[in-house]
Amino acid sequence: MATLLKVANLHKEFTLFIPGAKKIRALENVSFDMEEGEILGLTGKSGAGKSTLMKCIYRTYLPTSGSIRMHLANGGVSNIAHAPEHEVLSIRRTEMHYCSQFLHAIPRVPALEVVSEGLRVRGYSREDASGQAQKCFERLALPEELWNAYPSTFSGGEQQRVNISRAVLSRPRLLLVDEPTASLDLKTKDAVIDILLELKASGTSILLITHDAHTLNRLCDRCLHLENGALRNAVPVRNTEKV
Ligand SMILES: Nc1ncnc2c1ncn2[C@@H]1O[C@H](COP(=O)(O)OP(=O)(O)OP(=O)(O)O)[C@@H](O)[C@H]1O
Ligand SMILES: [Mg+2]
Repeated sequence: MATLLKVANLHKEFTLFIPGAKKIRALENVSFDMEEGEILGLTGKSGAGKSTLMKCIYRTYLPTSGSIRMHLANGGVSNIAHAPEHEVLSIRRTEMHYCSQFLHAIPRVPALEVVSEGLRVRGYSREDASGQAQKCFERLALPEELWNAYPSTFSGGEQQRVNISRAVLSRPRLLLVDEPTASLDLKTKDAVIDILLELKASGTSILLITHDAHTLNRLCDRCLHLENGALRNAVPVRNTEKV
């Protein structure tokens, strides 16, 4: 299998602008490789640095030091930790998608449009894009009366399903997904898991943060565990009972 992502000696420090300018070490010397086509789990207690690591890879956060080398579809390699903004934006547009735990809904844009818009910018007709979004909503059991409503008023679990639909239909090479099943019942959780497995089968690599043992066991090929910002192990996932 080819390497997709090579993270080396990654550090991230935050300075809190409070009296005394306290510093927080969120990531400390994190190094790992991610292979093309794998689902890599990321676990650890609240505050361990999971979202910070994911946001460094998506470059929402600029790492303090270290490198994040991504092997691109065109055969090139980009060091996301240092790449210019326009290069990062191009990678986000074409091959990397970040699905946060929360939906940052644009006011007064209906759910169907939030999801189908991503397909339309990639050349799909309005009808086709809307059809694919509806199919995804059906599979995730999002009630039909919500399809044309505004997600800013949705419950946490409903927003999560809109977010996941948008991520899945963008079919990126690398999907970063933070707690995709946290507020969902078991049946809907399994629907999300099935959809993510189909995405993997079509070639997407997935980095997945989860506290949920069921999601971890069904989805992940390997798992990285963070403790106080440092990686503690890299273990196979099957039969893991504890997260
Ligand atoms: N933008 C920020 N500014 C200052 N500190 C931050 C920032 N983002 C994260 N941190 C700090 O970095 C540490 C790691 O936070 P992070 O959000 O990565 O944890 P997490 O493992 O994702 O936790 P959770 O499971 O609760 O989501 C925490 O101490 C947090 O307070
Ligand atoms: Mg987090």
